[in-house]
Amino acid sequence: MRFVLLLLFIPFSLTAQERPTAAAIASAQPLATEAGMTILAKGGNAFDAAITVSAVLAVVEPYGSGFGGGGFWLLHRASDKRQVMLDGRETAPLAAQRDMYLDDTGEVVPGLSMNGALAAGIPGQAAALAHLAEHYGQLPLSTTLAPAIRIAREGFEVSEYYRTMAGFRLEVLQRFPETAAIFLQDGELPSLGHRIIQTDLAATLERLARAGHAGFYAGETAQRMLASIERHRGIWQQADLEQYRLIEREPIRFSYRGHQVITVPPPSSGGVALATILNILQGYQLDELGEAERLHLLAEAMRRAYRDRAEYLGDSDFVEVPIQRLTDPYYAAGLAASIRLDQATPSSTLPGIGGEPGGLHTSHFSILDREGNQVAATLSINYPFGSGLVAEGTGLLLNNEMDDFSAKPGSPNAYGLVGAEANAIAPGKRMLSSMSPTLVHSNDGVAILGTPGGSRIITTVLQGILAHVDNRPVSEWVAQPRIHHQYLPDKLYHEPEALDSVVKKSLEARGHQLEASTRPWGNMQAIHWRISDGRVSAASDPRGEGLALTDK
Ligand code: GLY
Repeated sequence: MRFVLLLLFIPFSLTAQERPTAAAIASAQPLATEAGMTILAKGGNAFDAAITVSAVLAVVEPYGSGFGGGGFWLLHRASDKRQVMLDGRETAPLAAQRDMYLDDTGEVVPGLSMNGALAAGIPGQAAALAHLAEHYGQLPLSTTLAPAIRIAREGFEVSEYYRTMAGFRLEVLQRFPETAAIFLQDGELPSLGHRIIQTDLAATLERLARAGHAGFYAGETAQRMLASIERHRGIWQQADLEQYRLIEREPIRFSYRGHQVITVPPPSSGGVALATILNILQGYQLDELGEAERLHLLAEAMRRAYRDRAEYLGDSDFVEVPIQRLTDPYYAAGLAASIRLDQATPSSTLPGIGGEPGGLHTSHFSILDREGNQVAATLSINYPFGSGLVAEGTGLLLNNEMDDFSAKPGSPNAYGLVGAEANAIAPGKRMLSSMSPTLVHSNDGVAILGTPGGSRIITTVLQGILAHVDNRPVSEWVAQPRIHHQYLPDKLYHEPEALDSVVKKSLEARGHQLEASTRPWGNMQAIHWRISDGRVSAASDPRGEGLALTDK
């Protein structure tokens, strides 16, 4: 089978008259989904509900996301069809230096970009939620943040999942007394059902509710964060917080087999990589391929997109990212020219550039309201429990997103991802992300989807999109077993059930080095709205403890 260049552009846009018959929310935590539905029932729109869901997730999923971190909120507003990405990604502190994680011999100092004050970028979630409330929501922050404030005060019960996450980062949580006091029980892993109470965080959220952006980036919250960072020998300055800005960015859009994919631009690598992969796949008749051949092709497309990620992707406000070129079908045709269907391409033969499964951290949610407003949002503090450092007196668990920069060209980060010049550290720069909240529109449907999963986010979203395009139900988008290739290491990762023995043999015969994951990855939260009859369905990944609800 040969690659065929398809340049079909299918113009498509929802009309403002088209309305779903139900609202829906899918998130990684039942308390967050329920709180969001309550806000919709009170007359809030999808954007108000997004504030509530983000804030409750920050409280009840402290290992995944939070006000000490950031994220991307991809919006579609039904009234005027405005589509925008709110970029609330963390920034490198103004005092950050390109080699700040290297020792005198030029080697990366283990742990420095992962744990404690030096690992934390300037948080963006509070700016994003204040912006959402001011420009897109209908309700005041005092209303939309109220559920999170209440749950922070009353506490939530430790689950098995929480214990797994805290166990994974126990040593770091124990290192900081302020952190241990909140997230551990007598300095040890909390027992099942133990209540995590976050009084300081509740007060921090009240200041945000009262004063919006300034209630976080100035005044008491800001002063306490700065004092704590200084005590722990970090490098934040007042100017970092004063200068932090939410950025509205134009999404990346491209078509794939009659669907318009609307997704995220840099500083996420997700949109560009999805475009590259889907542009490659578009040239093949996937339904005429056998299972092994199809998975091989997926892996080869992933390999090429992740190689480009490593070389070209970074914060486009700081470096020239050739987005037009990388997302152009002709460019994909060039990449596809080196793909053989009978043989894997060793990553080492592609032009060079100078772990563990993800999915334990970060958080995604999807929202559709009855007006047709849509939100896909992926939020993160990076590794489980971020840097492990709570800024004293604020309850804010600070991110370790600085590890998403390329500390040294070619040196892998916590996800095994390598990077080059484009993602080098610079003051005020946003570190490259894989978070890929995505909308897929077609003449008969809207899909809203995304997932956590570190470097595997992009390929997990990809497989969700493919399942949707294949007309499979939303429950299958989130549940299907997954594969992943990220160029380096040169391995085809798979969940155990993703490949049967015949397919495994066939992939190995092509030269793929297979690695079965010991843990599942991803925690996809997805919504499907069928336009023809208005039907709405939603699903939460069975790998997690999330909840998807519709109001009908
Ligand atoms: N911290 C994970 C990501 O942004 O890709």
